[in-house]
Amino acid sequence: MTDLFDPCEFNGFKLQNRIALSPLTRTRSNDAGEAGPLQALYYAQRASAGLLITEATPVTPGGRGGPNIPGLWSDDQVAGWKLVTDAVHAKGGLIFSQLWHAGRLSHSSLGGGEPPVAPSAMRQPGQIFTAEGPKEYEEARALRADEIPGVVEMFRAAARRAKAAGFDGVELHAAHSYLIDAFLRDMTNKRTDAYGGAIENRARLLVEVLQAIIGEWGGERTAVRLAPIGHAYQAWDSDPEPLFTHVVERLNDLKVGWLDMVEGDTGVSRMAEPSFDLQKLRRLFKGVVIANNMYDRDLAIAARAADNADMIAFGRPFIGNPDLVDRLRRNAPLIVADPRTYYGGGAKGYTDFPTLEGEAAVG
Ligand code: PHB
Repeated sequence: MTDLFDPCEFNGFKLQNRIALSPLTRTRSNDAGEAGPLQALYYAQRASAGLLITEATPVTPGGRGGPNIPGLWSDDQVAGWKLVTDAVHAKGGLIFSQLWHAGRLSHSSLGGGEPPVAPSAMRQPGQIFTAEGPKEYEEARALRADEIPGVVEMFRAAARRAKAAGFDGVELHAAHSYLIDAFLRDMTNKRTDAYGGAIENRARLLVEVLQAIIGEWGGERTAVRLAPIGHAYQAWDSDPEPLFTHVVERLNDLKVGWLDMVEGDTGVSRMAEPSFDLQKLRRLFKGVVIANNMYDRDLAIAARAADNADMIAFGRPFIGNPDLVDRLRRNAPLIVADPRTYYGGGAKGYTDFPTLEGEAAVG
């Protein structure tokens, strides 16, 4: 017996079950960064999840981690997302928009020729996929302190647009060495002003952005994604336990409703150097904890049995299985999607997967 598939109530929402769709970049927007009918179909097909979290959605062109990612930096992008939220709501689903600034993990070709910005000047090793194909990451420009209010305003404006687009809430991407996480950690934040040095300074941008978002949405409709022990894109901190303890205490002060916590290293390992026990954060946080990273059915059921999380999010399994909840409930086989169709293209590998019922009908 498990309660994973049971309806539940969190933060004033009625959820169909305790399974969430993790944010997944699928890079199928038009060149203006608008979602449209294709995204509406994709999310609606997955609306039986208790909560859908959208692909990471840039709040400014220079905060994009690649081309053809649907954004919320412009009012023109609201209508496409409204198609998505209407389609999900028509199927009885709930959907949060994940707001994102990639920081140094963007590229000047995406940011109107301007170099990407970060807490401190730094170049990421490796390559980024751009509209002109793969390119070396560039040295990021350190944000001046007087530019930071503008960054906060970008998130506020995107949060407001998410509301106009009919979302049920928003999630702030504060993981994986993107802009907010890069401020949190001492390997990527070498600042000596009010946004660097002591933990409370490094957490200042996160807190200010959350205050702006909560001003639009309220805490119960605001989520935060953290990856406290992950090292994606060189997300290192010399002492993550006090850092993330402080962060979660601030989330509690702000009455943030949801903590989307990446366990281990995203897409790599659940076990990645557990420098401290994430259950400490789970117990500290007063809201709803959504755990994710490489869960399968058995792990998800065990996590609920131990109350190690309130909800479990699945990413890649949802790509090939729009009816993942039904398949997990029935312990049915899962379709493995082709990684070559994860990013880019059209309906193929995106909206063309059968449900169990559909498979049965086709025979
Ligand atoms: C991530 O959070 O790991 C992530 C976000 C956006 C991407 C790829 C990865 O496009």
